Amino acid sequence: MVQDKLVKTFLIYLIKKGITMNYKEKIVELLKENMTDKGFILWKGIDSIMPDIWNMPTSSTRKFHKKLNGDVPDIAEHVYQMLFSLVKLFRMFDITPRTSDADKLLFAVTLHDSLKYGRWASRKHTDRRHDKEAADMISSNKKIFMKLLSEDQFNILEEGIRFHSGRWSTDVIDRSSFNWNNYKVTTFMVHILDMLSTVDCLQTDIRGLI
Ligand SMILES: [Fe+2]
Repeated sequence: MVQDKLVKTFLIYLIKKGITMNYKEKIVELLKENMTDKGFILWKGIDSIMPDIWNMPTSSTRKFHKKLNGDVPDIAEHVYQMLFSLVKLFRMFDITPRTSDADKLLFAVTLHDSLKYGRWASRKHTDRRHDKEAADMISSNKKIFMKLLSEDQFNILEEGIRFHSGRWSTDVIDRSSFNWNNYKVTTFMVHILDMLSTVDCLQTDIRGLI
């Protein structure tokens, strides 16, 4: 009886925590739980110097990314949706949380839209070239990432960001001949998660917390 009460109290605590936390806080919590300590420290450092666009809409015109109720999620909600599903899919890819293997994908998803409003977040509208801009930023900081990742893992991270828009990615030269066979399965995964979130097919309700 007492045990039941305790379980109930704990569940109510989890529910309230889930409801009162904003999406940025949820991202931080998810990354802390699933990244290596070194990876999380690096992410905190990156986040502190990146433009703060977490509360900007994923679609600046509000024409796209619409949820069922007509709202457009902010970048934080969009990224959290993707991270939430990514972690659920880890087992499918033989990925263990809190390893550098997990870090590379968590970085790819967390940073894929980080320059969506430009390098200094100074743009009024979202930057169509943000995939390339973010991937170039990752490339120019390769030395830092190589303290955590292997060459292969770094390439997965970089490609996952550069081509997260699939055939519509800035660095795709010929869209008509675009073929996923030429890309890593993890890049496809980032793309699919991005697309599913865009059409409001990813949910992060309480089932995830319990
Ligand atoms: Fe995105």
